[in-house]
Amino acid sequence: MTDDVVNKTRRRVLTAATSVVGAVGVVGAAVPFVGSWNPSAKAKAAGAPVRANIGKMDPGQMITVEWRGKPVYIVRRTQETIDNLDKVDDLVSDPNSEDPQQPEYVSSKTRSIKDEYLVLIGLCTHLGCAPLFRPEVGASDLGGDEWQGGFFCPCHGSKFDMAGRVYKGVPAPTNLEVPPYRYETDTLLVVGEDQEA
Ligand code: FES
Repeated sequence: MTDDVVNKTRRRVLTAATSVVGAVGVVGAAVPFVGSWNPSAKAKAAGAPVRANIGKMDPGQMITVEWRGKPVYIVRRTQETIDNLDKVDDLVSDPNSEDPQQPEYVSSKTRSIKDEYLVLIGLCTHLGCAPLFRPEVGASDLGGDEWQGGFFCPCHGSKFDMAGRVYKGVPAPTNLEVPPYRYETDTLLVVGEDQEA
């Protein structure tokens, strides 16, 4: 091929590529408009409540469900874990949930409807990383004897107890958020709908 032929070929390819981009641009402009008055099934599902079967959870176990694109942690706490919350009161900055971050029908101490099951949005209140579940009492990298289990954010080191209460002196400003939820039955939670008074 001579240089001239190569250049012409390139020009044709470029022209074709530009037309395709132009066509995509028109479609792209039309979609948001259509989307604004006719939300897709996917968009509706993204905001819908989520059911979580907690009937098969072992004591001490955590499961994660997704609600509105966010992870929701559900932990089945043992009686020992619930009792140990008292030991952490002096170490957390808002022990009685005065800055609620939770629906009003949730207990201010255990931050749950039933003590046994903790439900939290699994996003750190600092900059939104997903805290790790660290239930081991006395974990040496998390404070040793003082650590009664909880959540550790690997991004900047925030710590939360087994009720999602934030420790003092960490970057996260508030307790982990408790989403709206209700019990449909003893073993079925609905995340995203409020418990009736
Ligand atoms: S995002 Fe969790 S400590 Fe910064």
